[in-house]
Amino acid sequence: MRKETRIDMVERAFKLLDNNDTTRVDDVYLSPVASYTCKDWLALEQDILFKDYPQLVAFSCDLPKAGDFITNDDLGVPILIVRGKAGDINAFFNTCRHRGAKLANGCGRAQAGFTCPYHAWTYDFTGDLKVLPDQVSFPGVDKAEHGLVKLPVVEKYGMIWVCPTAGKDFDIDAQLGGLGEGLVEDLESYQFADYHPYTQRRMHCKMNWKMMLDTFLEPYHFAPLHPTTVGPLMYHNLCLLDTFGQNLREAVIRKSIQKQRDQPKDTWNIVPDSALVYLLFPNAGLVMQRDHVELWRSYPVPGKPNECMVQMDYYIPEPAETQSAKDHWERNMDLAVRTVLEEDIPGVEGIQVGLSSGAISHSTFGRNEPALIHFQREVARAIGRA
Ligand code: FES
Ligand SMILES: [Fe+2]
Repeated sequence: MRKETRIDMVERAFKLLDNNDTTRVDDVYLSPVASYTCKDWLALEQDILFKDYPQLVAFSCDLPKAGDFITNDDLGVPILIVRGKAGDINAFFNTCRHRGAKLANGCGRAQAGFTCPYHAWTYDFTGDLKVLPDQVSFPGVDKAEHGLVKLPVVEKYGMIWVCPTAGKDFDIDAQLGGLGEGLVEDLESYQFADYHPYTQRRMHCKMNWKMMLDTFLEPYHFAPLHPTTVGPLMYHNLCLLDTFGQNLREAVIRKSIQKQRDQPKDTWNIVPDSALVYLLFPNAGLVMQRDHVELWRSYPVPGKPNECMVQMDYYIPEPAETQSAKDHWERNMDLAVRTVLEEDIPGVEGIQVGLSSGAISHSTFGRNEPALIHFQREVARAIGRA
């Protein structure tokens, strides 16, 4: 984050605190319950948001060496992402050109390439077909034309995006609100390529995929829902919001920010005394904490508006090599787990039951929930339901 932004955001936070205020938009927003319960609405989201848009699939540090690969089955198509020998990144359908078997599962480090478990067609890290056993039985089948089907992929700012539709190239800077704009500058400054994956969690939740992100988009729930976890550390119902196209940056403020009042303005810095939530449209919530970063991704379950798959990846600045480092990060993780897994998710699953009951026709988002409103509005707009 640029120095001027770090200072400016502290100044904005102090102003809101002094006035017992928060960032407010002009009006309440009525969000139709159908956006969380309707199968047609979900089908539109899947077709548009999860097929046409670049998807954040990994941090660069998840794939540090040649041959490192991950697979992704959360986007409706099987995807294989691998780092090549020249350090480049490649993405393909995880689908053999012979008869369609899945080439790889999970994640790992491949030695020379990918050998299909079914009949052993073998591909290199660029997707080229290198070995076709009993080639005499495949007259007219040119190996050069039977490489893996590529998907558009971009690695930038220590992050990797893939579009799950072949041929649909994308401009990630434009999607992030523009080159030189605040969001791109922030991402660049954090140097995620130098982070280390610490741990991850996957959860099948009984709620609409958007609700997982909603829970990060307002601190209006901090005091009631988190009285013993993050509630005592953060200001309740106080946020800063900046939007960048369909994306946003929301800062929720730690009470520890008060100590900066006594420090020269030139040294003010929002980063250590806030949690910065970036909503990277459509489905990634990046939470910059003072000492680590969490990536929360939420994926729809086809045909089931009231279910989702959630993946949380937890990255740390230095590898945890000693026991005391491991203990430190376990304690740190525990707060995130207790807050989100034991408080937010059960709370939000309760909301899903309420919305699915038909009791109400719309949710009422307050003027003090501007990030939530921005997200819902952008989703509705993107699928033509605004
Ligand atoms: S399906 Fe892959 S080699 Fe036959
Ligand atoms: Fe929460």
